[in-house]
Amino acid sequence: MKTIQAVTYPVHFQKESYQELSNILKIKNYSTIFILVDENTIEYCYPKFIPNLETDKTIEVIEIDSGEINKNLETCIGVWNVITELGGDRKSLLITLGGGVITDLGGFVASCFKRGIDFVNIPTTLLSMVDASVGGKTGVDLGVLKNQIGLFANPEMVIIDTDYLTTVTEREIKSGTAEIIKYGLTYDVNLFNEIKDNKNLNINDLIFRSVEIKNEVVLQDPKEKNLRKILNFGHTLGHAIESFYLESEDKENLTHGEAIAIGMVCECYMSSKLLNFPKEKVIEVKNVVLTIYNKINLLKVDFSAILELLKHDKKNVNGQVNFVLLNDYEDYKIDCKVDESLIIESMEFYNL
Ligand code: GLY
Repeated sequence: MKTIQAVTYPVHFQKESYQELSNILKIKNYSTIFILVDENTIEYCYPKFIPNLETDKTIEVIEIDSGEINKNLETCIGVWNVITELGGDRKSLLITLGGGVITDLGGFVASCFKRGIDFVNIPTTLLSMVDASVGGKTGVDLGVLKNQIGLFANPEMVIIDTDYLTTVTEREIKSGTAEIIKYGLTYDVNLFNEIKDNKNLNINDLIFRSVEIKNEVVLQDPKEKNLRKILNFGHTLGHAIESFYLESEDKENLTHGEAIAIGMVCECYMSSKLLNFPKEKVIEVKNVVLTIYNKINLLKVDFSAILELLKHDKKNVNGQVNFVLLNDYEDYKIDCKVDESLIIESMEFYNL
């Protein structure tokens, strides 16, 4: 079995992982096992998961509505109420079975309930496998502002079983691919090149390498004081664009990956203007992004609303927006200040 050891917990890969889960269930002797799902994962992932769960304890399934729009405190309160009604106590375990919303929100619910119960992440989307389920960030959105409420809390274990990827849409896979591109641009350009060349892509290898990178970064800087900020490459502007589409009633929501792919193109452009990031690489990144994702037309009239949302980015200090930019592939610079005029110019560049 392949395993990556994170700071306090293992990330196990593929079917053999379930034996490890059974082992900790025996050792920890949990009182009740809660499984957090949404309407998709209860239908498509739960039937794949449940035959692997060896336990004589009570199992309770808690279902929430899917989608970023439900990643909020109201949903958490609903889940806390259900756990309470079902007799949850400090010896309960919460298993999160789903995408980034389920693993982020579930980890947050577990780590606040009675000051913290154990949880296990079982990501079912590419995005949650390569990013959200690993690294100890848990939390929810505040209105449309992404991940504003949350805390660092580590799961007991993460299980990455790529069989669940057969249950998700092509659009979801593409959403997760953006995070792999991010690891490629900031840390290991081989990952970016593999996606660019798009030949004999081995999804299991891409996931494993992505988790290795995420873990290496988080081990060095768990609380995002420094190096971990590179994992936000493309996310500073990307989150603002994602939030803007979430709050715009006349626009279809973007997936997280679609928004941060735009963010990465724009932030490469800013890098070329402020640092030495080569212009031809900006074009290369834009071409790769436009090969994978539909072009979105960012309207000029929307720029000011997007800039307004940028002011809420979690990396901001004293009202100043801080970007992670690139000197080159694998060569980053954190805490870069960028004038509004250049941010606008970068969106115009994306639009060209
Ligand atoms: N998703 C970025 C991080 O975990 O730091």
